[in-house]
Amino acid sequence: MTAVAPVRRIPMSRLTTLGVGGEAEVWSVGTLEELREATAQPYRVLGGGSNLVVADAGLGERVIKLVGGYAEADLERDPQLSDEHVYVTGWIGAGKALPALVRTLQKRGLSGLEGLVGIPAAVGGAVWMNAGTRFGEMFDALHSLEVYYRGEVRVYAPDAFPHRYRSSGLPQGAVVTRVRLRLTPSTPEEVEARMQGADLARKGQPKARTAGCAFKNPPGESAGRLIDRAGLKGTRVGNAMISHEHGNFVINLGGATAEDVITLLRTVQEKLGLPLEWEYELWE
Ligand code: EPU
Repeated sequence: MTAVAPVRRIPMSRLTTLGVGGEAEVWSVGTLEELREATAQPYRVLGGGSNLVVADAGLGERVIKLVGGYAEADLERDPQLSDEHVYVTGWIGAGKALPALVRTLQKRGLSGLEGLVGIPAAVGGAVWMNAGTRFGEMFDALHSLEVYYRGEVRVYAPDAFPHRYRSSGLPQGAVVTRVRLRLTPSTPEEVEARMQGADLARKGQPKARTAGCAFKNPPGESAGRLIDRAGLKGTRVGNAMISHEHGNFVINLGGATAEDVITLLRTVQEKLGLPLEWEYELWE
């Protein structure tokens, strides 16, 4: 079979915000036909690469990146599903960048995703891990999801999956291809005000090369605060270091390896003596 989707071998360090990871075969997929072709061999799905640590040895699996038709957004109001209190959008491709979407919704005075301001994800990645802040998470704003799984495309209500804090409950191998959002009509000013509130909560976070928070928060606690209190800020392995600004961020000081990051997180866990769960996804 001749390839229809563009395929390139790319170092994953270039496709991830933390900037570590070896090479993989990256398939840019914009249609169902391309998706079927790309998933004919073992694969993984890349979102914004903003919560991801890829092994230094690279990946044997194909990496699927949703582009083109899977990155387009129809934000028009669906008149059949909407009323004066509820605004349901058309289909939004999972490859769409979340920050641009959050900004567009603010300008249109649509409320629901503003709590996710500043998260450098793709829509599909944000769904996959139920990304969020204490001002809201992705599943709060979903009306429905289009999911490709074992060759079939189906539409689900969000409650079809056992989603919880930072986890969608989608099965391995499922590809979120599109979503519809369930929003609340508001005004650009009100949405902007809430957005600024959520943005302010990120003020203490480092601006350097990171992949967001490394660990999930234990119930009722902040992993960052625990790491800070244990005096572990500044702990360094190779070129990966725990940020001095926020204890739950690993910074790539330049040229860090996945091994540096993994060893650093293990070291922190050992010193803390607490079983923290990783928020990062590890691909190896
Ligand atoms: N704190 C410290 N020292 C630190 C870090 C935090 O004392 O080094 C204290 C803060 O002063 C604050 C408390 O711990 O009193 C909580 O910290 P913060 O407000 O930064 O929230 P967080 O629980 O550490 C969560 C999310 C972030 C999200 C922020 C803001 C998780 C794992 N983290 O962090 O999400 O940006 O709230 O809404 O759920 C991410 O998921 O990648 C992420 C960065």
